[in-house]
Amino acid sequence: MAALLIRSIARTIKRPPATASAAYSTEGKVALITGGASGLGKATAGEFIRHGARVVIVDSDEESGFKAAKELGVAAEFMVCDVTVEADIARAVETTVERHGKLDVMYNNAGIVGPMIPASISELDMKEFENVMRINVIGVVSGIKHAAKVMIPAGSGCILCTSSVAGVLGGLAPHSYTISKFTIPGMVKSAASELCEHGVRINCISPGTVATPLVLRYLRKVFPTATEEKLRETVKGMSELKGAECEEADVAKAALFLASEDGKYVTGHNLVVDGGMTAFKIAGFPFPSDS
Ligand SMILES: NC(=O)c1ccc[n+]([C@@H]2O[C@H](COP(=O)([O-])OP(=O)(O)OC[C@H]3O[C@@H](n4cnc5c(N)ncnc54)[C@H](O)[C@@H]3O)[C@@H](O)[C@H]2O)c1
Repeated sequence: MAALLIRSIARTIKRPPATASAAYSTEGKVALITGGASGLGKATAGEFIRHGARVVIVDSDEESGFKAAKELGVAAEFMVCDVTVEADIARAVETTVERHGKLDVMYNNAGIVGPMIPASISELDMKEFENVMRINVIGVVSGIKHAAKVMIPAGSGCILCTSSVAGVLGGLAPHSYTISKFTIPGMVKSAASELCEHGVRINCISPGTVATPLVLRYLRKVFPTATEEKLRETVKGMSELKGAECEEADVAKAALFLASEDGKYVTGHNLVVDGGMTAFKIAGFPFPSDS
């Protein structure tokens, strides 16, 4: 009798209609990406555009910026902007809103590594340190500020920032870069605490090592005689995850998810895209000797 009842209830429960697994979408969104002329920023611009967005890329490198916008096609445009100059960021945001009526996504991605020498903190060149902090930290805070200015009144928006695995573990990069990247998840949490009540989300992405121009330039200084192919192999060799390497597209897809409606409940988060690199450390301790 009980079995009959269960079968009859099961027959009356309608299955939900099968939904096609649609890709994350930025359809109709307007995005602004700093450092969009190269590497991760350019790859993310391409990903957003392929999923329906219009993208304003801004960069201090004018030549590469115009070239990148041309390559990205009609949904992309370029504006010169030095993220260390607050007026430049303000103008980029205002011009985007004037031209497109809104700003849905602000991606504060521009960054530099800074010098690797001298390696010791005891010899840190404070001028160089300030330079890295101006771009990697002040530039990002400035981007958050000016995005918030238009997103708070709009009652919606998504702010993204690029941190790094070097902002999760010490010792992976020069001190100035490491210190600058550790600040990013902190500023994301601080801003999220206020922006939540306005319906504005803010998150950061911490990529593993990707063979972008930034990384290749850095490795070339360490291994000046190595070919580009060898340098790319070195980057591949850094991966912990069997059969995978961190590619620009992996970071761009993480940004796409966070920018899309599918990421609508994610805020204050640091999305680490590193194939497990910062998830563990093999305990390489010396075994005790018999004696
Ligand atoms: N490539 C990696 O392995 C990796 C890993 C973790 C984090 N990141 C971070 O990702 C971001 C992008 O790096 P990438 O690897 O694509 O480097 P990239 O050098 O290819 O691109 C960075 C872009 O930022 C621009 N830029 C530099 N200073 C600027 C300024 N003051 N104003 C405006 N634009 C400026 C550069 O002109 C360049 O086009 C950086 O914040 C970097 O720290 C990179």
